[in-house]
Amino acid sequence: MELSGKHLVLGLSGGIACYKAAELCRALVKAGATVQIVMTEAAGHFITPVTLQALSNRPVFDSQWDAREGNNMAHINLSREADAIVIAPASADFMAKLIHGRADDLLSLMCLARPLERVPLIVAPAMNREMWAHPATQRNVAQLKADGVHVLDVGQGDQACGETGDGRMLEADEILQELISFFAPKRLAGQQVLVTAGPTYEAIDPVRGITNLSSGKMGFAIARAACEAGAAVTLVAGPVSLPTPRGVRRIDVRSARDMLQAVQAQVDAASVFVATAAVADWRPAASADQKIKKDGSGDTPALRFVENPDILATVAQSPRGQQGQRGEAGGLFCVGFAAESHDLLAHASAKRERKGVPLLVGNIGPATFGQDDNALLLIDAGGATELPRASKLNLARQLIAEISRRLPPGAPTR
Ligand code: CTP
Repeated sequence: MELSGKHLVLGLSGGIACYKAAELCRALVKAGATVQIVMTEAAGHFITPVTLQALSNRPVFDSQWDAREGNNMAHINLSREADAIVIAPASADFMAKLIHGRADDLLSLMCLARPLERVPLIVAPAMNREMWAHPATQRNVAQLKADGVHVLDVGQGDQACGETGDGRMLEADEILQELISFFAPKRLAGQQVLVTAGPTYEAIDPVRGITNLSSGKMGFAIARAACEAGAAVTLVAGPVSLPTPRGVRRIDVRSARDMLQAVQAQVDAASVFVATAAVADWRPAASADQKIKKDGSGDTPALRFVENPDILATVAQSPRGQQGQRGEAGGLFCVGFAAESHDLLAHASAKRERKGVPLLVGNIGPATFGQDDNALLLIDAGGATELPRASKLNLARQLIAEISRRLPPGAPTR
């Protein structure tokens, strides 16, 4: 569980997004965190402490005069034991209070009283689009950031007031992802990671083509884990129906040649390249402009195939790929994947040599395509390391840690 061992104070200020705070509380508990709810009087107009006590499994605090604490100093006690204070929703008014250091209710008092270096403050703003766009709010957001507060983005879309625009609070799941990222070790800070994922689609005619069963899940998980580890991540994705991990820049492509082109446009900026895509080895020699029709004779079209470019080998054999292979700073560290059906170690080791990459990740293709879990075999010049069966996200995080250990010293830091 990603947040196990973390103790979070979840603070609610007044706003209709309080309903999402209930979901958030639940998600945090499910992720292993203990959650202490503190709410303002205004928040109490939108959601009751009963709901939040039931979800957090702890009594809620909503007054600085609460006599339950032995020393009657809830603002000190609650803030000292927290790994972070998360304000969700953070109303326009509450953010205005924060920048002035006002402390006339328990939540703002606690934010002011928190040990600055030890207890981070994370706010998830929520308000009407005009309130969000107002220069006063934007000024306050800038000031909060300057004061070291971690201000999350706002969502965009339909608002409770009937208007449409920026200012919605992020969804519970998005805030959860932000918090997991926030606490993740920044092993790839300063790195630019380029990932390929999914299958490619090679057109036969405008309505047909050949592809494969790759779901893209492993590559998307790696992009997410790299982002959590502090890298700037670009994900070149073949046709898959997966949501883009938060903070990842995604470029959608269809064919192997499109994928190569997109990779070549991005690779100069990258310091790590992870090729997880199941690129089609062949494509039809010619793709018909119009749908190929049956002519009634019973004859089948004679399809001829030509080989697709090998994206990983092309990149790995470039001068920067070679530098990365030799472990030189400034080089591109390339990681390949091998989907095999048998003799994983032998095939994957041979593939590592053939492709010229410092690290190759082997897995059993039929056992992983489309699944949520997998098992990996990491092969480098020193030998093989097994990563036993686990969820793809868990494996992706382990792989990112393994990659970071293999990067040359003096790698960039942000
Ligand atoms: N790859 C690539 N471009 C291709 C084919 C493969 O970038 N045209 C990359 C994959 O993303 C993966 C690695 O190369 O990282 C291995 O792919 P795989 O298909 O397993 O190996 P092949 O080289 O195709 O070898 P074979 O089909 O003989 O197993």
